[in-house]
Amino acid sequence: MPAPSPHVLNDPIEELISASAIAKRIAELGAQLTADYTELAKTADVVAIGVLKGSVLFLADLVREVHFPILLEFIGISSYGDATKSSGVVQITQDLSRPIADKHVIVIEDIVDTGHTVHYLMENLRTRQPASLKLCSLLHKPERSEREVTIDYLGFTIPNKYVVGYGLDMAQKYRNLPYIGHVTGA
Ligand code: IMP
Ligand code: MG
Repeated sequence: MPAPSPHVLNDPIEELISASAIAKRIAELGAQLTADYTELAKTADVVAIGVLKGSVLFLADLVREVHFPILLEFIGISSYGDATKSSGVVQITQDLSRPIADKHVIVIEDIVDTGHTVHYLMENLRTRQPASLKLCSLLHKPERSEREVTIDYLGFTIPNKYVVGYGLDMAQKYRNLPYIGHVTGA
């Protein structure tokens, strides 16, 4: 489906990654996860942890492309800062519902921007002693990196532009766009 006309949106949005390109890449990531985790899943639970709210659409599509048993958990994170730039001060606003000790954990993020959020989150989860801990992010903006972060599974590298859609928001709007776009002027 083509991007909606800018006239139906409050802000002009230019499509960067189409819904079909997202679906194709997620199928590839799912195949990669299936190859890496099918044997591990026989020895311990594999848990996908979705970082609220931005990763929800990505997680929902990704887990349908993996072919081993996978548990779902969610964690809420807030990073203080202005609307478009995180400050590095991060807090858990909603915690996991179950322990992750001795489980294989895959953190599912929407985007790694400065890296502060994911750096904090991975350090926090590591203290809970999972059997393994990996990061899967749909997007990465390497030009903005301030913390070294290893992304084990990555959807797309994007330029230094503020993006919305497919879970990502601007002031809580546009999460339901089926594609990823750039808010021109943001
Ligand atoms: P970081 O701590 O700077 O890496 O920021 C990570 C968080 O900021 C992400 O999980 C997003 O919630 C948000 N974020 C960063 N860049 C964008 C963007 O371009 N669009 C929407 N949200 C973003
Ligand atoms: Mg986020």
